[in-house]
Amino acid sequence: MTQRRLFVTTALPYANGKFHIGHIMEYIQADIWVRFQKMRGHEVHFVCADDAHGAPIMIAAEKAGQTPQQFVAGIAAGRKPYLDGFHIDFDNWHSTDGPENHELAGQIYQDLKRAGLIETRTIEQFFDPDKAMFLPDRFIKGQCPKCGAKDQYGDNCESCGAVYAPTELKQPYSALSGATPVLKSSEHFFFKLSDPRCIDFLKQWTTSGAVQPEVLNKITEWIAPGDDGKPKMGDWDISRDAPYFGIEIPDAPGKYFYVWLDAPIGYLASLKNLFAKTGRNYEAFMADPAVEQVHFIGKDIITFHTLFWPAMLHFSGRKVPSAVHVHGFLTVNNGEKMSKSRGTGLDPLKYLGLGMNPEWLRYYLAAKLNAKNEDVDFNADDFLLRVNADLVGKFVNIVSRSAGFITKRFGGQLTQDFDPAGAALLQTLAAASEPIAGLYDQREYGKATREIMALADQVNAYVDQNKPWELAKDATHNERLHQVCSVLINAFAVLSRYLAPVLPTLAREVEKLTGLTLASWHDAGPVRAIAPYQHLMQRVTPEQLEALFEAPTPEQPSQAAEKLDSDPNLPPGGEAIAPTITIDDFAKIDLRIARIVQCEAVEGSTKLLRLTLDVGEGRMRNVFSGIASMYKPADLQGKLTVMVANLAPRKMKFGLSEGMVLAASHADEKAQPGIYVLEPWPGAQPGMRIH
Ligand code: 2FM
Ligand code: ZN
Repeated sequence: MTQRRLFVTTALPYANGKFHIGHIMEYIQADIWVRFQKMRGHEVHFVCADDAHGAPIMIAAEKAGQTPQQFVAGIAAGRKPYLDGFHIDFDNWHSTDGPENHELAGQIYQDLKRAGLIETRTIEQFFDPDKAMFLPDRFIKGQCPKCGAKDQYGDNCESCGAVYAPTELKQPYSALSGATPVLKSSEHFFFKLSDPRCIDFLKQWTTSGAVQPEVLNKITEWIAPGDDGKPKMGDWDISRDAPYFGIEIPDAPGKYFYVWLDAPIGYLASLKNLFAKTGRNYEAFMADPAVEQVHFIGKDIITFHTLFWPAMLHFSGRKVPSAVHVHGFLTVNNGEKMSKSRGTGLDPLKYLGLGMNPEWLRYYLAAKLNAKNEDVDFNADDFLLRVNADLVGKFVNIVSRSAGFITKRFGGQLTQDFDPAGAALLQTLAAASEPIAGLYDQREYGKATREIMALADQVNAYVDQNKPWELAKDATHNERLHQVCSVLINAFAVLSRYLAPVLPTLAREVEKLTGLTLASWHDAGPVRAIAPYQHLMQRVTPEQLEALFEAPTPEQPSQAAEKLDSDPNLPPGGEAIAPTITIDDFAKIDLRIARIVQCEAVEGSTKLLRLTLDVGEGRMRNVFSGIASMYKPADLQGKLTVMVANLAPRKMKFGLSEGMVLAASHADEKAQPGIYVLEPWPGAQPGMRIH
């Protein structure tokens, strides 16, 4: 088999919010594919980045009192617990505001200009006179011109569904300042997508097999000739006026690339950044026609990736995408779609904080995903069934029913002398290798997992025929027992290898158990001995799923507390303000921003939580905090807080505590129970000192 050279990406998330489960689904889908290709021995570079630019991020940063760079850095710092938590293994994570992207965007633009595909035109747009900026459509509001509904956005009415231009709104106002916008003209740069050269290229590229058939149907509308003989696709406005957080257009001061121009270039920038870090040659790699460029995206951003992006690449003389794999949305319990803007329903960090196994979710999503851009529904009952009945009941059970006998009765050694039925079973399993590989490669994970579970059914039928627990009762059946259990361990190892792209951590555990290497798709050879078996996977409980979807209930202050708060004769918070100190006294206390990387209950204590804190020192700190009555570990994991970083370490019953987390409470704990951990405003970074 020739080695493929793959450059794989997922969509770059906007750096204006946390991940929601829709992001996690896309990353898991791509991660499974990448892990599979790596197992096949292919060269794969899997990258992502924060999509840093654009007006919404600029405005959000301003609201937070930060520069856009600080704001984006704050968001980026929160990515790791999600990616590590769900075993998503990007080779690189970068930012579209990195130097590579600034440089590449400038170059691509110059190349398109040289190709005669850039044009300037003067257009009129709404301008906010108070803010002195042009307003993006979503920051203009007013009355719907069709139904008269108030407070509708500049491009469509949420009440009657009408679509219109912002200039058609009645009584328009700026959502930023409330001012009445005025029409103002300015020069904009356009990428001439309606140029016949672009249309011809896109007709060819879109039908080259790079997109799924259902995607092709959708995009053909844009490039096929309409009733007037012309394609529907117009030229693309790629510039925005200052103030804008983005990349300045070369030789055009005060003009910036529209965020969607430089966002996909961020794919290349992240790869370039990775190659620089690992001493590889980016130019040589991208010049190799054998390299396949593969993008995983959601169905809401199809036009950008299948029309604009390939045209940008082609006419700037670059490699075009080999495949754009489009997935559908994730819905939760038949509910609303997990769109970018409405990330409700299933909170990924809450999932992890409840101690739910990330590989349950990976398996569940794999079982439901196919190569089409159909929506996937996360259904709690279905999840319980698939995890408990299939993953644990059919698959993990194979080893939990056999490993104990091997350890206790045969000193951990397996026999290689299988019974004919067992040998035939292992043959069947081995023969499924290529068909299953084909399904993974085609992103038909649902079919692949069904295929694997059908094999597990055959293995379980062999268990039922041979009943190892019966054989174990009679010493004369020792040899049979040895054979049957050895077949089962071998079968389990093969199935673990087939599931390794989906269950990477489980596969590592099976490696430790069996001594085999499951990092390659090739037959890993027979298992000769096993280490003592430790349970590999728990079942999910209905309580966990209930807690996952339970809405957080706000604390109700007790009546006594209300009374205490409102009594002007009592000191604030139940205690008098401490004696005055000097600024030098204060400076002795080194307060730092810390990220709660991990948070867990402490066995044997109902009061304490154990926090693993990142204070930006390149090491983690272990701190115990008496806040278990108020917070579940999941509430805190991933959050920022404030800690005393220079408090002498304290030996406690449960271990060393290396600092103290700041929390507020009333002096009279009985009258007003509750302890509240401090959380800084967005933008604060681990390690920053509190002055
Ligand atoms: O829709 C989004 O979330 C965009 N941030 C995706 C960008 S993908 C690529 F073009 F960068
Ligand atoms: Zn309307």
